[in-house]
Amino acid sequence: MKILVTGGAGYIGSHTCVELLNCGHQPVVIDNFCNSLPESINRVQQITGKKLPLYRGDIRDGALLDKIFKEHKIDCVIHFAGLKAVGESCVKPIEYYDNNIGGTLSLVNAMKRNGCKKIVFSSSATVYGTPEKLPLTEDCKTGGTTNPYGTSKLFQEKILSDIYAADNGWTVILLRYFNPIGAHKSGLIGEDPHGIPNNLSPYIAKVAIGELPEVRVFGNDYPTKDGTGVRDYIHVVDLAQGHVAAIEKVNAAGVYVYNLGTGTGYSVLDVINAFSAACGKPIPYTVVQRRDGDIAECYADASKAERELGWKAKLGLGDMCSSLWHWQQLNPRGYNK
Ligand code: NAD
Ligand code: WQD
Repeated sequence: MKILVTGGAGYIGSHTCVELLNCGHQPVVIDNFCNSLPESINRVQQITGKKLPLYRGDIRDGALLDKIFKEHKIDCVIHFAGLKAVGESCVKPIEYYDNNIGGTLSLVNAMKRNGCKKIVFSSSATVYGTPEKLPLTEDCKTGGTTNPYGTSKLFQEKILSDIYAADNGWTVILLRYFNPIGAHKSGLIGEDPHGIPNNLSPYIAKVAIGELPEVRVFGNDYPTKDGTGVRDYIHVVDLAQGHVAAIEKVNAAGVYVYNLGTGTGYSVLDVINAFSAACGKPIPYTVVQRRDGDIAECYADASKAERELGWKAKLGLGDMCSSLWHWQQLNPRGYNK
């Protein structure tokens, strides 16, 4: 299949391009590099030994999208492009809604103009807000998001669902990711956050390599097994393979929602200990106050994806930490060597 991958140079997009190419699909990437570098696509080509077309540009540029649709017979779109930092979204809501909502509207307009009606959308477990029950199933209530980033995901899900309601020819696949971490086993591609990371696993990796002094554990008084926050961490390569399963298995029109997680929750201290085992040294940490907006626990019931897509996460927390450590050691400054 020929697949337009928006945001394909980013963390999850680059790993998905590798899996698509490995399965004989033909990704075409558009990225404006606001949070990535073209080097990631060079690395994708190095890993797979295959070339892929890359367009530098913004998905809000309808003329560029039309040009891509004219130059390639696109069968479906995997839509990663967007801004994703929760804290920043509270400070820059206009930019977040413009990029995320405006970008999606521009994309679906171009798809409509060019007769492409199949889209896979990068959604997030954040749409569940505070979980009504655990593990989270796809029919759990959504809403109650506490930041513009999460709200933009909720709106985008709704926009895509409304498009199907108006035109039953569309196939809309909403993939709700839990906490993607880790890197490709080659160590050639991985997450490359700018500045001090907001998320736990890249922060731990920077402590392990000596760039940051210690991990700050945001609270140890949650009602969890050790008092620290529990999340469903999923290896980014498993997640990438979930996209391949979705485009291959879902062919009928409709709106399909899948949780992509492992179904297992790990605490902050579990992740610190697993990373320490992977890198062979202790990771210093101190417990500080809870972070605003955090929930105690969040993990998936991922059985629907297994039943309907034949997809199941295979890699465990040890693989996630060792692959991240491998990437971090080979690329201490990310793609900016
Ligand atoms: P990322 O920032 O690494 O990748 C996003 C890519 O999109 C970047 O390469 C960026 O340059 C590009 N981009 C952004 N706006 C664009 C625009 N207007 N036009 C063209 N390109 C644009 O992020 P990621 O972690 O790979 O996330 C991919 C998607 O998955 C995002 O939509 C994100 O919200 C979603 N998601 C991520 C996580 C996570 O924890 N990483 C969890 C749930 C959902
Ligand atoms: C994980 C756990 C923290 C950093 C975020 C987004 C979510 C999704 C994934 C995009 C929590 C604790 C963290 C640190 C810590 N992204 N922590 N010290 O918050 O579950 O999810 O990324 O859709 O929308 O909200 O991930 O990695 O930030 O935190 O103790 O320095 O680690 O409190 O319990 P989170 P995270």
